[in-house]
Amino acid sequence: MKTAIVIGVGPDRGLGAQLCRRFAADGLKVIVAGRTSSTLEAVANAIEKSGGQAVPFVADATKESDIAALFDAAGSDLDLAIYNAGNNTPGRIIEMEADYFENAWRVVCFGGFLFGREAMRRMVPKKTGMLLFTGASASLRGRSGFGAFNSAKASLRTLAQAMAKEYAPDGIHVAHVVVDGAIAGDKIMNRFPDAASRQDSLISIEGIVDAFAFLYRQPERAWSFELDVRTSKEKW
Ligand SMILES: NC(=O)c1ccc[n+]([C@@H]2O[C@H](COP(=O)([O-])OP(=O)(O)OC[C@H]3O[C@@H](n4cnc5c(N)ncnc54)[C@H](OP(=O)(O)O)[C@@H]3O)[C@@H](O)[C@H]2O)c1
Repeated sequence: MKTAIVIGVGPDRGLGAQLCRRFAADGLKVIVAGRTSSTLEAVANAIEKSGGQAVPFVADATKESDIAALFDAAGSDLDLAIYNAGNNTPGRIIEMEADYFENAWRVVCFGGFLFGREAMRRMVPKKTGMLLFTGASASLRGRSGFGAFNSAKASLRTLAQAMAKEYAPDGIHVAHVVVDGAIAGDKIMNRFPDAASRQDSLISIEGIVDAFAFLYRQPERAWSFELDVRTSKEKW
Protein backbone atom coordinates (compact mmCIF):
# COMPACT_ATOMS: atom_id res chain seq x y z
CA MET A 1 0.00 0.00 0.00
CA LYS A 2 1.43 3.39 -0.98
CA THR A 3 2.33 5.50 2.05
CA ALA A 4 2.25 9.26 2.63
CA ILE A 5 3.83 11.31 5.41
CA VAL A 6 2.28 14.64 6.36
CA ILE A 7 4.23 16.66 8.93
CA GLY A 8 2.67 19.70 10.58
CA VAL A 9 -0.71 18.27 11.55
CA GLY A 10 -2.92 20.22 13.95
CA PRO A 11 -6.70 20.29 14.53
CA ASP A 12 -9.22 18.60 12.23
CA ARG A 13 -10.19 21.90 10.56
CA GLY A 14 -6.62 22.67 9.60
CA LEU A 15 -4.70 22.10 6.38
CA GLY A 16 -2.46 19.34 7.75
CA ALA A 17 -5.36 17.22 9.02
CA GLN A 18 -7.38 17.70 5.85
CA LEU A 19 -4.40 16.69 3.69
CA CYS A 20 -4.17 13.50 5.77
CA ARG A 21 -7.88 12.82 5.35
CA ARG A 22 -7.83 13.36 1.57
CA PHE A 23 -4.83 11.17 0.82
CA ALA A 24 -6.18 8.44 3.11
CA ALA A 25 -9.52 8.62 1.26
CA ASP A 26 -7.55 8.30 -1.99
CA GLY A 27 -6.16 4.97 -0.74
CA LEU A 28 -2.80 5.85 0.79
CA LYS A 29 -1.71 4.85 4.26
CA VAL A 30 -0.94 8.15 6.00
CA ILE A 31 1.65 8.82 8.69
CA VAL A 32 0.15 11.73 10.64
CA ALA A 33 3.10 13.67 12.09
CA GLY A 34 3.45 16.64 14.41
CA ARG A 35 4.39 17.52 17.96
CA THR A 36 1.15 16.94 19.89
CA SER A 37 0.24 13.30 20.42
CA SER A 38 -3.44 13.88 21.32
CA THR A 39 -4.07 15.93 18.16
CA LEU A 40 -2.37 13.38 15.93
CA GLU A 41 -4.30 10.50 17.50
CA ALA A 42 -7.61 12.31 16.96
CA VAL A 43 -6.84 12.80 13.25
CA ALA A 44 -5.61 9.21 12.79
CA ASN A 45 -8.65 7.79 14.64
CA ALA A 46 -11.06 9.79 12.48
CA ILE A 47 -9.37 8.42 9.35
CA GLU A 48 -9.50 4.83 10.62
CA LYS A 49 -13.18 5.25 11.53
CA SER A 50 -13.98 6.27 7.98
CA GLY A 51 -12.20 3.20 6.59
CA GLY A 52 -8.75 4.63 5.85
CA GLN A 53 -5.34 3.73 7.24
CA ALA A 54 -3.43 6.21 9.42
CA VAL A 55 -0.68 6.07 12.01
CA PRO A 56 0.08 8.95 14.39
CA PHE A 57 3.78 9.77 14.82
CA VAL A 58 5.19 12.38 17.19
CA ALA A 59 8.04 14.30 15.58
CA ASP A 60 9.46 17.79 15.78
CA ALA A 61 10.26 19.01 12.28
CA THR A 62 13.40 20.79 13.51
CA LYS A 63 14.98 17.67 15.08
CA GLU A 64 17.17 15.66 12.75
CA SER A 65 16.77 12.38 14.67
CA ASP A 66 12.96 12.72 14.82
CA ILE A 67 12.76 13.17 11.06
CA ALA A 68 15.02 10.21 10.32
CA ALA A 69 12.89 8.05 12.66
CA LEU A 70 9.70 9.31 10.98
CA PHE A 71 10.91 8.24 7.53
CA ASP A 72 12.15 4.90 8.90
CA ALA A 73 8.65 4.31 10.31
CA ALA A 74 7.06 5.04 6.92
CA GLY A 75 8.88 2.07 5.38
CA SER A 76 9.64 1.19 1.78
CA ASP A 77 6.19 2.02 0.32
CA LEU A 78 6.68 5.75 0.84
CA ASP A 79 5.31 7.57 -2.21
CA LEU A 80 4.36 11.04 -0.96
CA ALA A 81 5.87 13.38 1.64
CA ILE A 82 4.28 16.72 2.58
CA TYR A 83 6.01 19.44 4.59
CA ASN A 84 3.20 21.55 6.11
CA ALA A 85 4.84 22.78 9.35
CA GLY A 86 5.50 26.51 9.66
CA ASN A 87 3.07 28.77 11.39
CA ASN A 88 3.19 32.54 11.08
CA THR A 89 5.56 34.49 13.37
CA PRO A 90 4.63 38.18 13.36
CA GLY A 91 6.91 40.85 14.78
CA ARG A 92 8.74 44.05 13.93
CA ILE A 93 12.48 43.85 13.38
CA ILE A 94 13.64 46.44 15.98
CA GLU A 95 11.91 44.62 18.85
CA MET A 96 12.70 41.11 17.61
CA GLU A 97 14.96 38.81 19.65
CA ALA A 98 17.58 36.94 17.64
CA ASP A 99 16.36 33.53 18.79
CA TYR A 100 12.78 34.36 17.74
CA PHE A 101 14.02 35.01 14.20
CA GLU A 102 16.17 31.90 14.26
CA ASN A 103 13.32 29.70 15.52
CA ALA A 104 11.02 30.93 12.75
CA TRP A 105 13.68 29.93 10.22
CA ARG A 106 14.21 26.55 11.95
CA VAL A 107 10.56 25.53 11.75
CA VAL A 108 9.72 26.98 8.35
CA CYS A 109 12.94 26.41 6.36
CA PHE A 110 15.52 24.25 8.15
CA GLY A 111 12.83 21.67 8.95
CA GLY A 112 11.96 21.63 5.25
CA PHE A 113 15.58 20.82 4.48
CA LEU A 114 15.71 17.94 7.00
CA PHE A 115 12.39 16.56 5.78
CA GLY A 116 13.23 16.97 2.09
CA ARG A 117 16.64 15.38 2.52
CA GLU A 118 15.22 12.28 4.23
CA ALA A 119 12.55 12.02 1.53
CA MET A 120 15.16 12.20 -1.27
CA ARG A 121 17.40 9.66 0.47
CA ARG A 122 14.54 7.16 0.30
CA MET A 123 12.87 8.12 -3.00
CA VAL A 124 15.88 8.65 -5.27
CA PRO A 125 17.15 5.03 -5.10
CA LYS A 126 13.63 3.86 -6.12
CA LYS A 127 13.39 6.56 -8.83
CA THR A 128 9.84 7.47 -7.78
CA GLY A 129 7.98 9.62 -5.28
CA MET A 130 6.66 13.09 -4.65
CA LEU A 131 7.61 15.82 -2.18
CA LEU A 132 5.22 18.73 -1.57
CA PHE A 133 5.72 21.91 0.43
CA THR A 134 3.10 24.30 1.82
CA GLY A 135 3.87 27.93 1.02
CA ALA A 136 2.14 31.20 1.90
CA SER A 137 1.87 34.77 0.58
CA ALA A 138 5.18 35.17 2.42
CA SER A 139 6.84 32.79 -0.04
CA LEU A 140 6.63 35.51 -2.70
CA ARG A 141 6.44 38.85 -0.86
CA GLY A 142 7.99 40.61 2.13
CA ARG A 143 5.52 42.42 4.37
CA SER A 144 5.92 44.92 7.19
CA GLY A 145 5.63 43.20 10.57
CA PHE A 146 6.32 39.70 9.22
CA GLY A 147 10.05 39.74 8.34
CA ALA A 148 10.93 36.54 10.21
CA PHE A 149 8.17 34.48 8.60
CA ASN A 150 8.50 36.07 5.12
CA SER A 151 12.22 35.45 4.86
CA ALA A 152 11.91 31.84 6.05
CA LYS A 153 9.02 30.98 3.68
CA ALA A 154 10.87 32.57 0.74
CA SER A 155 13.93 30.46 1.61
CA LEU A 156 11.79 27.34 1.77
CA ARG A 157 10.45 28.09 -1.73
CA THR A 158 13.90 28.42 -3.31
CA LEU A 159 15.04 25.29 -1.47
CA ALA A 160 12.03 23.46 -2.93
CA GLN A 161 12.83 24.80 -6.41
CA ALA A 162 16.44 23.68 -6.12
CA MET A 163 15.31 20.22 -5.05
CA ALA A 164 12.78 20.06 -7.89
CA LYS A 165 15.58 20.71 -10.41
CA GLU A 166 18.13 18.52 -8.65
CA TYR A 167 15.94 15.39 -8.43
CA ALA A 168 13.58 15.57 -11.44
CA PRO A 169 16.16 13.63 -13.49
CA ASP A 170 15.84 10.86 -10.87
CA GLY A 171 12.06 10.71 -11.38
CA ILE A 172 11.17 12.62 -8.21
CA HIS A 173 8.50 15.32 -8.45
CA VAL A 174 8.99 18.21 -6.01
CA ALA A 175 6.32 20.93 -5.88
CA HIS A 176 5.21 23.92 -3.82
CA VAL A 177 1.73 25.30 -3.15
CA VAL A 178 1.44 29.04 -2.45
CA VAL A 179 -1.49 29.54 -0.09
CA ASP A 180 -1.99 33.23 -0.80
CA GLY A 181 -4.20 34.46 2.05
CA ALA A 182 -5.79 33.27 5.27
CA ILE A 183 -7.24 29.75 5.43
CA ALA A 184 -10.86 29.16 6.52
CA GLY A 185 -9.74 26.83 9.31
CA ASP A 186 -9.38 26.66 13.07
CA LYS A 187 -6.17 28.71 13.21
CA ILE A 188 -7.86 31.83 11.80
CA MET A 189 -11.32 31.20 13.33
CA ASN A 190 -9.85 30.90 16.85
CA ARG A 191 -7.51 33.89 16.49
CA PHE A 192 -9.95 36.31 14.87
CA PRO A 193 -13.49 36.06 16.30
CA ASP A 194 -14.91 38.09 13.38
CA ALA A 195 -13.44 35.67 10.80
CA ALA A 196 -16.64 33.63 10.52
CA SER A 197 -18.44 36.69 9.17
CA ARG A 198 -15.94 37.15 6.33
CA GLN A 199 -15.73 33.59 5.03
CA ASP A 200 -15.68 34.74 1.41
CA SER A 201 -12.23 36.29 1.96
CA LEU A 202 -10.81 33.11 3.52
CA ILE A 203 -9.38 30.32 1.36
CA SER A 204 -11.32 27.07 1.29
CA ILE A 205 -9.28 24.22 2.83
CA GLU A 206 -10.85 21.75 0.41
CA GLY A 207 -9.72 23.95 -2.49
CA ILE A 208 -6.14 23.93 -1.21
CA VAL A 209 -6.23 20.17 -0.69
CA ASP A 210 -7.49 19.80 -4.28
CA ALA A 211 -4.35 21.62 -5.44
CA PHE A 212 -2.11 19.15 -3.58
CA ALA A 213 -4.09 16.19 -4.94
CA PHE A 214 -3.88 17.57 -8.50
CA LEU A 215 -0.09 17.91 -8.26
CA TYR A 216 0.22 14.37 -6.90
CA ARG A 217 -1.72 12.98 -9.88
CA GLN A 218 0.32 14.78 -12.57
CA PRO A 219 1.92 12.47 -15.13
CA GLU A 220 5.72 12.55 -15.42
CA ARG A 221 5.57 14.38 -18.77
CA ALA A 222 3.42 17.25 -17.42
CA TRP A 223 4.80 18.26 -14.03
CA SER A 224 4.25 21.65 -12.34
CA PHE A 225 6.59 23.05 -9.75
CA GLU A 226 4.02 25.41 -8.26
CA LEU A 227 0.36 26.22 -7.87
CA ASP A 228 -0.96 29.34 -6.17
CA VAL A 229 -4.37 29.44 -4.51
CA ARG A 230 -6.27 32.56 -3.38
CA THR A 231 -9.85 33.81 -3.09
CA SER A 232 -11.41 36.07 -5.71
CA LYS A 233 -11.41 38.86 -3.08
CA GLU A 234 -7.64 38.78 -2.50
CA LYS A 235 -5.68 41.92 -3.47
CA TRP A 236 -2.37 40.56 -4.76
N1 LIG B 1 -3.60 29.39 8.56
C1 LIG B 1 -3.45 30.23 7.56
O1 LIG B 1 -4.24 31.19 7.38
C2 LIG B 1 -2.34 30.02 6.54
C3 LIG B 1 -2.25 30.89 5.44
C4 LIG B 1 -1.26 30.67 4.48
C5 LIG B 1 -0.38 29.61 4.63
N2 LIG B 1 -0.47 28.79 5.72
C6 LIG B 1 0.48 27.67 5.83
O2 LIG B 1 -0.28 26.47 6.01
C7 LIG B 1 0.42 25.59 6.89
C8 LIG B 1 -0.38 25.33 8.15
O3 LIG B 1 -1.75 25.24 7.90
P1 LIG B 1 -2.81 25.61 9.06
O4 LIG B 1 -2.61 27.02 9.47
O5 LIG B 1 -4.14 25.15 8.60
O6 LIG B 1 -2.31 24.77 10.29
P2 LIG B 1 -2.48 23.19 10.52
O7 LIG B 1 -2.14 22.50 9.26
O8 LIG B 1 -3.80 22.94 11.15
O9 LIG B 1 -1.42 22.94 11.65
C9 LIG B 1 -0.05 22.95 11.44
C10 LIG B 1 0.55 22.31 12.66
O10 LIG B 1 1.95 22.15 12.49
C11 LIG B 1 2.44 21.80 13.76
N3 LIG B 1 3.81 22.22 13.90
C12 LIG B 1 4.27 23.47 14.16
N4 LIG B 1 5.58 23.44 14.34
C13 LIG B 1 5.96 22.15 14.19
C14 LIG B 1 7.21 21.49 14.27
N5 LIG B 1 8.35 22.13 14.59
N6 LIG B 1 7.23 20.15 14.06
C15 LIG B 1 6.10 19.49 13.78
N7 LIG B 1 4.90 20.06 13.69
C16 LIG B 1 4.83 21.38 13.90
C17 LIG B 1 1.54 22.54 14.80
O11 LIG B 1 0.98 21.60 15.70
P3 LIG B 1 1.71 21.31 17.11
O12 LIG B 1 1.94 22.64 17.74
O13 LIG B 1 0.73 20.44 17.80
O14 LIG B 1 2.97 20.61 16.74
C18 LIG B 1 0.43 23.11 13.95
O15 LIG B 1 -0.81 22.99 14.53
C19 LIG B 1 1.72 26.29 7.25
O16 LIG B 1 2.74 25.89 6.35
C20 LIG B 1 1.38 27.76 7.05
O17 LIG B 1 2.49 28.58 6.83
C21 LIG B 1 -1.41 28.98 6.68
